[in-house]
Amino acid sequence: MNAFADKQHLSTREIQALDSAHFLHPFTDFKDLASRGARIITHAQGIYVWDSEGEKMLDAMSGLWCVNVGYARQELADAAYRQMMTLPFYNSFFQTTNLPAVQLAARLAALAPPVGERSFAHVFYSSSGSESNDSNVRMVRRYWDLLGQPERKVIIGRLNAYHGSTMAGASLGGMSGMHAQGDLPIPNIAHIGQPYFFENGLPGETADEFGLRAAGWLEEKILALGPDRVAAFIAEPVQGAGGVIIAPDSYWPEIQRIVDKYGILLISDEVICAFGRVGHWFAYEKFGYQPDLVTFAKAVTSGYIPLGGVMVGNRVAKVLIEQGGEFTHGYTYSGHPVACAVALANLDIMEREQLVQRVKGELGAYLARRFGELSDHPLVGLAETCGFMAGLVLVKNKATRARFHPDAAVGMLCRGHCFNNGLIMRAVGDRMIIAPPLVMTTAEIDEMIRLIRLALNLTQQDLKQKGQL
Ligand SMILES: Cc1ncc(COP(=O)(O)O)c(C=O)c1O
Repeated sequence: MNAFADKQHLSTREIQALDSAHFLHPFTDFKDLASRGARIITHAQGIYVWDSEGEKMLDAMSGLWCVNVGYARQELADAAYRQMMTLPFYNSFFQTTNLPAVQLAARLAALAPPVGERSFAHVFYSSSGSESNDSNVRMVRRYWDLLGQPERKVIIGRLNAYHGSTMAGASLGGMSGMHAQGDLPIPNIAHIGQPYFFENGLPGETADEFGLRAAGWLEEKILALGPDRVAAFIAEPVQGAGGVIIAPDSYWPEIQRIVDKYGILLISDEVICAFGRVGHWFAYEKFGYQPDLVTFAKAVTSGYIPLGGVMVGNRVAKVLIEQGGEFTHGYTYSGHPVACAVALANLDIMEREQLVQRVKGELGAYLARRFGELSDHPLVGLAETCGFMAGLVLVKNKATRARFHPDAAVGMLCRGHCFNNGLIMRAVGDRMIIAPPLVMTTAEIDEMIRLIRLALNLTQQDLKQKGQL
């Protein structure tokens, strides 16, 4: 029988062999994976996923920060099926449109709260976060060209930020390993430090003092580059892939003051933070700043089907529309009808089940309390949450905040214990992070915290045995 005919009859080893023979995974050491064999995820329900060996795991990462409404929602499958049978595809290039794309754009515009003079009536669609940030680069440069300031090209991002993996996305991000491999960044991208108080705060400095200092790096960079050359600043509300780095309260107001002072555009990359993750439909509302462009993807469909885009604020949209000519940019799948139909059904679920309000209210508070309790563990130097994102730092010595040597790979050690005990938690260096589905019950939060504590205890035992504690 053809090996592909019925995958149910393939053993784990057989699927792993096919996988390593044919599938190059993203962000993967191919040789290393081939020697171990990939874990095969076969199905999922609610907040749990199962692998081909029948192991059930609590998915505290919502897939990859996206399955906000949980797995196996019949409504989303039905919406995709209905739309596929009605209009599975049509493009939006040649002065054509489709109803789900229009309805979704209008609905997103209604969900994005106006702030100050900024409001969001328009959406530019893509299929991913990375593509959306490429669109941002194109739109920002077009905007300044149309305003007769083509020398304004530089976009400033932050070190350890993640804005995707395309050439522009990786350039805007501040991941040194990605820059090294891709001969990046592309021209006219600059970076400043991240607002990570635990790591970069000075002795005696308060979090708010540090927040002001970290925001000040933006002004220093603008002045060093020459204010007339700077087009935009891009940042995640909370740095996700960088390790759930939550800026001090003083940071965002100061960033706003600086971008306003120099008239540069502010891009809020909300690929992770939008759609309830921090207790708001859009995270800029929580932090009180006024972006001109907002990147979204992931949870707009809860990850059931690829969709991304940019909320284009009135400041930029007005210029692009009124002073425009053709904007020579777009994708085959911009405004894909099936993806947009699934997004509409996903927003229906989020509204009906009041998921955003749950995170902002009691459930978010419950997670904050339970996750915060982990800070009594001897290995935990800091445990913090922002809505339904959380991170803790593994330390060698709580009192002195001494960290482990990177060679100890303490995060990976802890992550291994999580996986072996039925919990999917991510390690970023020595930070352990979660972003669970927003549909969790308090009992499921309790179960997750129990599993995290178990993994911490096992990690501590290991480190003692190895003489590293
Ligand atoms: C803040 C942010 N921007 C952009 C991206 C890239 O999104 P995608 O992987 O859909 O291209 C990600 C992915 O995790 C992200 O977290």
